[in-house]
Amino acid sequence: MGRRPFVAALVLAAGRGERLGAAVPKAFVSLDGQSLLERSIRALAASGRIERIVPVVSSGDGPAYAAIAERCADVEALAPIVAGGAERQDSMRAGLASLPDRIELVAVHDAARCLVDPSDVGRVLDAAERMGAAILGEPVRDTLKRVAGGRIVETPDRSEYWAAQTPQVFRRDWLVAATAAAADSGRRATDDAALVEALGHAVEMVEARAPNPKITRPEDLVFARMLLARRDVRAEAGGARSGGGRAPMSSRNRE
Ligand code: CTP
Ligand code: MG
Repeated sequence: MGRRPFVAALVLAAGRGERLGAAVPKAFVSLDGQSLLERSIRALAASGRIERIVPVVSSGDGPAYAAIAERCADVEALAPIVAGGAERQDSMRAGLASLPDRIELVAVHDAARCLVDPSDVGRVLDAAERMGAAILGEPVRDTLKRVAGGRIVETPDRSEYWAAQTPQVFRRDWLVAATAAAADSGRRATDDAALVEALGHAVEMVEARAPNPKITRPEDLVFARMLLARRDVRAEAGGARSGGGRAPMSSRNRE
């Protein structure tokens, strides 16, 4: 095999966080002393595989971001911020348009999924290197019901259903084409893979080994603190399997 592809990550952080209802936009909310955005940046950097990490932030949040940039001065891959758009898909497009020509693979990540395990990031990057497109996810645990008008219409076979997470990683040319096609057709999607799937490309599902919840509502922060506490306990026991403790660590040697 030849050299590894040049990889960039877009960290989408331009949402308002309405469901969380905090005083600041969600990406700037602190979780045990570190913002969700900083945690996401550090988790991606700790994979050791990403040469450019691009935070996509709402245009009014530049001043708030300055403090994060300062705290992340040790993260070599960190690029200047890009202004996001009205919807997530617009923010992704803006980040994508900012990438230098040499980038071949793009990892799209929600800042709200700030607990992602660096080794899971590495595994989804591996799959995308092989396949051209791969996302992290997990099999659904609940039985799913299709409901219309308050009544169950169907109980699909749960074993076929997975919940999609991020990072979602794609060949850059596929993601550019998918984004352009979506803009032409007016297609909106809640994840990026749906746009790439719509072009007929196979997208590999990679099962996340560590919990990778999206912070959406206030109770998710409570759960996230519990996961961080468990990591700390494991780290102290010498059995740490992932980064994310409180101590600042270099972006290369956390995993
Ligand atoms: N996002 C973005 N630009 C937008 C909307 C969302 O970059 N216009 C980002 C968010 O910052 C978040 C990720 O996309 O990291 C996933 O979106 P979501 O969890 O829905 O976050 P918010 O849109 O901020 O939250 P809410 O929908 O509750 O307002
Ligand atoms: Mg949203």
